[in-house]
Amino acid sequence: MTEISMQYLGMKLSSPIVVSATPLSESIANIRHMEDAGAAAIVLASLFEEQLTLESRALDEDLSRGTESYAESLGYLPEMGNYRMAHEGYLDHVRRAREAVKIPIIASLNGATPGGWVRFAREMEAAGAHAIELNTFALVTDGRQTSTQVEDQLVELVGRVVKEVTVPVAVKLSQSYTSLPHLCGRLEEAGARAVVLFNRFYQPDFDIETLEVRPTLHFSTPAELLPRLHWAAILFGHLEGDISITGGVHAAEDVLKAVMAGGSVVEMASALHLYGIDHIRRVLGDLRFWLEQREYATLAETRGCLSRRCVPDTSPYDRGNYIKTLSSYSLRQTKGAF
Ligand SMILES: Cc1cc2nc3c(=O)[nH]c(=O)nc-3n(C[C@H](O)[C@H](O)[C@H](O)COP(=O)(O)O)c2cc1C
Repeated sequence: MTEISMQYLGMKLSSPIVVSATPLSESIANIRHMEDAGAAAIVLASLFEEQLTLESRALDEDLSRGTESYAESLGYLPEMGNYRMAHEGYLDHVRRAREAVKIPIIASLNGATPGGWVRFAREMEAAGAHAIELNTFALVTDGRQTSTQVEDQLVELVGRVVKEVTVPVAVKLSQSYTSLPHLCGRLEEAGARAVVLFNRFYQPDFDIETLEVRPTLHFSTPAELLPRLHWAAILFGHLEGDISITGGVHAAEDVLKAVMAGGSVVEMASALHLYGIDHIRRVLGDLRFWLEQREYATLAETRGCLSRRCVPDTSPYDRGNYIKTLSSYSLRQTKGAF
């Protein structure tokens, strides 16, 4: 049988399929189901910087209200037992997930600015997380903020989280950085052990009748995989750490493409929402079948075989491809017209 285990974040995973952060893993029954279906690891849904900051502020306010007043006002002091905060519930969930399954549990922190909230990474580790995935969704709306400032802030944030923990930290990135290879190099220097390509942007849509701006969340399609493949193929060989691909991985073919581009693992969410958790089993079956038919001994040997570093002609990855693709399209279109 073809060996499909992969190394990720210093761990040997039984397969390349990791469950991406999604509310599906908020249930322990689902977490067990994911392991049964063949998931190699599970990234839990994120705990957000905003949640953590809000909680700390509420706690601080309550505490100072109590201490600044007269003695009798000590009655205002919050019952610490009532502070069953979001993060406590989260840590409890990490502990229960750890007990429920043998596969690695990766806790997820989601934030954009370095701050006191990063200390929760340490609590996640103490609760049993095998690794931390830091989702760095930053959206710049302030015209005075430069791209260098945004990147510096990100690197500082990653460095701060890495310092909090001894477990490996993976950084989930947005796609829209000017020089991704340079930035990923800096993130590695700051201690990141993997990059996760990419966050999906949940762009608001317009209702032109009511003139409202509405948040939208659509599940992905495999078409979203292409920019991830492109960047993984460019980054492979330039980074010491691992590459994980998330966004548009629905079928075995997508997993193979991701690994051939240079990914160690894929992280799936939409396909599990669309087709159910057992979909993992089907994808793994198809993956094994494909590799066996072509007599590959291991999945790992295919890693990076279509990366920019390994293909004889790099032009499909470079600017030349852009020109070629556009010009070939216009030739095709105009052919019938003459
Ligand atoms: C309902 C839903 C909730 C999600 N919640 C989170 C989250 O809490 N943290 C996070 O990093 N990503 C979150 N994501 C993003 C997914 O983890 C994943 O990276 C993204 O959807 C791309 O993978 P896909 O194409 O397989 O869906 C969420 C996605 C969905 C669909």
